[in-house]
Amino acid sequence: MTAYASPQAILPPAGGQPGRYAVIGNPVAHSRSPRIHAMFGEQTGIALEYGLLAAPLDGFEATVRGFFAGGGRGLNVTVPFKQQAWTLASPRLSERARLAGAVNTLWQRDGALHGCNTDGIGLVADLRALGMDLTGARVLMVGAGGAARGVLQPLAEAGCARIHIVNRTPEKAHTLAAEWLRATGAASPTVSAGALDEAHKGGPWDVVVNATASSLGDAAPDLPGGLYAEGALAYDMMYGAQPTPFMRQARADGAAATADGLGMLVCQAAESFFIWHGVRPDAEPVLAALRQELAAAPPR
Ligand code: ATR
Repeated sequence: MTAYASPQAILPPAGGQPGRYAVIGNPVAHSRSPRIHAMFGEQTGIALEYGLLAAPLDGFEATVRGFFAGGGRGLNVTVPFKQQAWTLASPRLSERARLAGAVNTLWQRDGALHGCNTDGIGLVADLRALGMDLTGARVLMVGAGGAARGVLQPLAEAGCARIHIVNRTPEKAHTLAAEWLRATGAASPTVSAGALDEAHKGGPWDVVVNATASSLGDAAPDLPGGLYAEGALAYDMMYGAQPTPFMRQARADGAAATADGLGMLVCQAAESFFIWHGVRPDAEPVLAALRQELAAAPPR
């Protein structure tokens, strides 16, 4: 995988015992993170225990504190707690996490919580694994929630020339673009925003990322046609055993390639693993194994 600058971590050795890690969320039972981290552990020869940690909706902080007080070494954070994790770890945040406004990876050092967000690097790593050269790329980001916010900075760092954010509620897209520009002050990439029916403005696009929750309702976002440049990739952050509605829509609109977000899931986990263990595992065989398991037992 691509080498990224490490954030501040890499934990001291666990002292002979397998270190304890978990993913915290509500609900969390469906999470594939324990399986992914177990495979990374086997691959790298690092002994670890990685479990599921269900937190009550009003009990995130207490559950996190209890986990680390009991000797836990690292947490991944999922829905709906990523923003709370950000608050909890502030100001000991990586730059990525600071700009994402959300944290998906926590660890404790000298008694204090630290946080990073590896979602965006996970996306960039997977796009590269899929053969996308992001240097100078024109990117359409569909959606303006936390999922979209979390990946803007890594896409910018990867060298994208333009990012156009469109959303069902256009005001949210404008707010996200304005906040991101204010926070970074960056002149490049050019970031613009609009409604879903303005998705073609400034296009066609080399990469179209669906960062909306539309697939949960088994629908594609209501996008106009003619979005895809030659050789373009359509990427859905959601995943499933079958191509998502967005992927089917993209094929019909002429996207050369489509991908779902299973690779992003594995790549963000690989980056969390690197933060905690100082070793970056190979995502590819783990993704292949997961893909097989998904086909054999699709999520309900
Ligand atoms: P997340 O943190 O996962 O991004 P979120 O903040 O609830 O979740 O944002 C969900 C995103 O999916 C929003 O951009 C939402 O659009 P609105 O801001 O207009 O609500 C988008 N979304 C959800 N269902 C959608 C659908 N059926 N079509 C298009 N966009 C959809």
